[in-house]
Amino acid sequence: MSTDRRKFLKHLGTSVLLTSASLTSLAAREENELRILRAEKRVGPNDKIRIATIGMGIMGFNDTRAALTVPGVELVGCCDLYKGRLERAKEVFGKDIFTTDDHRAILDRKDVDAVIIATSDNWHSAIAIDAMHKGKAVYSEKPMVHKISQGLEEIKVQKQTKSVFQVGSQRVSSIAYKKAKELYEAGAIGQINSIEASFNRQSALGAWQYTIPFDASVQTVDWARFQANAPVKYDYDSKRFFRWRNYREYGTGVAGDLFVHLLSGIHFITSSKGPEKIYSIGDLAYWKDGRNVPDVMSAVIHYGETKEHPAFQVTLRVNFISGEGDHSTTKIVGSEGVMDLGGEGDGFTIRKSKMPVAPGIGGWDSLYTFTEAQQKALMDDYNKRYSQADQQEPNIPGLTYRAPEGYNASNDHFANFMDAVRNGMPVVEDAVFGFRAAAPCLACNDSYFENKVIHWDAENMKIV
Ligand SMILES: NC(=O)c1ccc[n+]([C@@H]2O[C@H](COP(=O)([O-])OP(=O)(O)OC[C@H]3O[C@@H](n4cnc5c(N)ncnc54)[C@H](O)[C@@H]3O)[C@@H](O)[C@H]2O)c1
Repeated sequence: MSTDRRKFLKHLGTSVLLTSASLTSLAAREENELRILRAEKRVGPNDKIRIATIGMGIMGFNDTRAALTVPGVELVGCCDLYKGRLERAKEVFGKDIFTTDDHRAILDRKDVDAVIIATSDNWHSAIAIDAMHKGKAVYSEKPMVHKISQGLEEIKVQKQTKSVFQVGSQRVSSIAYKKAKELYEAGAIGQINSIEASFNRQSALGAWQYTIPFDASVQTVDWARFQANAPVKYDYDSKRFFRWRNYREYGTGVAGDLFVHLLSGIHFITSSKGPEKIYSIGDLAYWKDGRNVPDVMSAVIHYGETKEHPAFQVTLRVNFISGEGDHSTTKIVGSEGVMDLGGEGDGFTIRKSKMPVAPGIGGWDSLYTFTEAQQKALMDDYNKRYSQADQQEPNIPGLTYRAPEGYNASNDHFANFMDAVRNGMPVVEDAVFGFRAAAPCLACNDSYFENKVIHWDAENMKIV
């Protein structure tokens, strides 16, 4: 028995549904089986996929490692604007990899089949479009675009070039989200009416004050290229380069950076194309380090009724100075239960709560304000109309689902992407899905900065 198969069988023993005998764990088992089969598949020399990563920062390294877990994937080169990260890429992935600070040099290479774009948000769209024109498959980190105005053009190029294109919101490939979707669609929580989702953090790193290397300077950073597409140019500033998330010129604030994970998961489970009305508020409550985006932000988003789902409301919140500590959640509330997906995308619980048939009488009610004679008559009548069973709140067991220990949705997200590159399978998060998740998040920024409600046409992906 191969090691992978042994691991797989072990996973079956330790994962999936911990309670509720009535709901099977078939989908997760099949999903696991498929992953192992993929891993065991012999990869011939013609099946090799040669990748290059553009943007070799925290996520560039993570994504590259995840991509290399897929059999037959090889790293050809890396591109970054800070010399130290290219040197680090050679330390980690071998001195023979090609390195450059110009993404066009990567795209010109015939031996690169696919690129991972893990730059700051301001470069995602331009590099993705260049890459598709050069015939490369593209794995673009979220958010797909920096500005809403870039989305339709990118989708158009993808359709014209027929490039394999996937956005990097890995929870869309998570087996926990797949299972959650299956149960949601089977009616496990009744009819959805609202969702609360949030990221709470309480640390400098969580608030994006990442470490800056001692040798950061105009000699080691290609500052001109970094801000080439920014409307206002600044003198070199290490904070703006290494902590770009804190500046609207290069990042997309907590909405584009973190709300987008929440909406990607929500759209995946509910099959929604997106909301119709978006409003958000924000404050810079604590991290007053020169950033020009809020560190506490809340949004109220309305999803109208469509053929995919009934109307529901979403409240999103990010709090970077939360006394609750690090804690994230996505709670999908239905008429008969709540699905709580936690923050990591590796499991969920469902709690069931169903109203009794009888409406109730007494307790916090007007009953006691009536005469005793009236109360007795009303109680007699109530007990005649409703049996004891009808008066009881039904006790329906909930369930808990956990992905196998050590499970990593990013690896699956890359396995799905490579399947599309190698076998022409459909990607799990295409440009339309990616844009439909990103645009309402970017609209949260527009709502906050312009102090207005944003109306969104999710079908046609346009501000109205
Ligand atoms: N999917 C996830 O869970 C997840 C998690 C973290 C970050 N991300 C996304 O990944 C992206 C990168 O985030 P990070 O934390 O790694 O940032 P980072 O600052 O650590 O790295 C970004 C790198 O991009 C490089 N870069 C910028 N413009 C470039 C260009 N034109 N050409 C080549 N390189 C360029 C910079 O030099 C920098 O090294 C962001 O868009 C972020 O939203 C996704």
